[in-house]
Amino acid sequence: MKISLRQKLIVLTLSLVVFVTIAAAILSSVEIQRYYTLKIKQQLEMQLSEVEYLLANSALVDEDSRYTKFTGYARQVNLRITFIDSLGTVLYDSTVPEDSLAFLNNHLTRPEIQMALHNSSGYDQRHSTSVPETMLYAAKVFNRELAGDKPLLNQIYFIRLAIPLREINQVINALLWKIAGGSLIALLLFSLLSYYFANKLTFPIQKLAAIAESIKKGNLDAHFEHNTKDELGELAELLNEILDKLRSDLVQMRKLEKMRSQFLGNVSHELRTPIFAVQGYLETLLQNKECDVKMQRKFIKKAHRQAVRLNNLFTDLIDISRIESGEMKMVFRNFNLHKSLQSIVNDLQETADDHNVTLVFANKNDDKVYALGDKNRLKQVIINLVVNAIKYNVPYGKVEVGTREEKGKITIYVADTGRGIAREHINRIFERFYRVDKERSRNLGGTGLGLAIVKHIIEAHHSEIQVESEENKGSTFSFSLVKAAQES
Ligand SMILES: Nc1ncnc2c1ncn2[C@@H]1O[C@H](COP(=O)(O)OP(=O)(O)O)[C@@H](O)[C@H]1O
Ligand SMILES: [Mg+2]
Repeated sequence: MKISLRQKLIVLTLSLVVFVTIAAAILSSVEIQRYYTLKIKQQLEMQLSEVEYLLANSALVDEDSRYTKFTGYARQVNLRITFIDSLGTVLYDSTVPEDSLAFLNNHLTRPEIQMALHNSSGYDQRHSTSVPETMLYAAKVFNRELAGDKPLLNQIYFIRLAIPLREINQVINALLWKIAGGSLIALLLFSLLSYYFANKLTFPIQKLAAIAESIKKGNLDAHFEHNTKDELGELAELLNEILDKLRSDLVQMRKLEKMRSQFLGNVSHELRTPIFAVQGYLETLLQNKECDVKMQRKFIKKAHRQAVRLNNLFTDLIDISRIESGEMKMVFRNFNLHKSLQSIVNDLQETADDHNVTLVFANKNDDKVYALGDKNRLKQVIINLVVNAIKYNVPYGKVEVGTREEKGKITIYVADTGRGIAREHINRIFERFYRVDKERSRNLGGTGLGLAIVKHIIEAHHSEIQVESEENKGSTFSFSLVKAAQES
């Protein structure tokens, strides 16, 4: 069974309220009872002294009227008065006629008398044998010195007063009823209050839970409403922030997913073309048995070119996926930058010649310039840039590779006098498979992945690739590296 937070709160506060009121009621009843008993005992004590005083001093105590006078007094103060001699014989009792005194039991064994005998005063509470009621008894030893030589008083040894407990109990019971009634009202009030507060407290939580539930069902546009500045308000704010993040993450994820599926589509398209071409050339060769050797060589050459293109594509694809999965680790070292640039320029001289392009290294005479980075990956970058500058050039054009130093940095540039890149293409040429002129790129053996790889590698060096280009004038690609003092 699911117990809601609200139910738990209500049960908790209710049990607390019940416990506290019952405890308060019991404690106050006990305290009131104790207080009243004490008060009555004190009063009885006072009255004992009063009776003793009356006995000793009053003219009441003459032979004829002593009983009637005491009986009148007892009735007036609503007490039972008893005088007892040292042997326990009752000499007088305000509730017993004089002629019946002889039938009373000896009172010496009564607990209050025994106590008075030992401590000069005593109390007891019990059901009386003479009067059918529970009584509170108080007794004291009569102070003989007060009596003087009055002969009648010589016999009196104990004075005893008794009061029916019924009256005390009536007062206490009335009070207890009032306490019980009050407690009940308090209980009801507290219950209502606790119910109200439990509801008030749990309502916003229930609201939050309902919204969370709707989010679970996929409603990401939900918003956690709140109008308090307490912890719940803070929680709602926090949840809203998380939700916002989730939404933007989701947008990002969808974008990435779209890019991935686009990329996959591009890859299969790029692969299909050369594979079909190779298949086509080979089938032509197989079917045309009479075709001459010159023709055969022509088809084999064409098939070979497509195979090279396939190989380039695979190499670039593998590089891209290794870079993007973080598998390609860069090894940073200080290396001789000018030596590397010079050797690249030397190696690509033939390609430049093929395209009727002049390729030069601008810093030929300075071979002691060092930089920090992954030498082989940076070589790959520069080859990509120089090959592009040669391929997308014009006949008799020029390509210049060089470096510039500034503030501990060293900038490498590849500048060409080629066809340039139109403004609308400049930001897109680093995208995978993006080419300005698809046909020209394919014919020149391009994969459309070169600049994407370049960008990744430069960014892994905490740098940025820059392009300046003007249509029909040429382009300059550049990036900076940290300058080093020597090789490491
Ligand atoms: N130096 C350059 N001059 C003019 N266009 C260029 C130059 N370098 C790159 N491009 C353009 O950017 C595109 C993307 O280059 P890249 O990623 O190296 O792919 P690919 O060279 O295989 O086509 C090229 O197809 C080309 O249109
Ligand atoms: Mg390229």
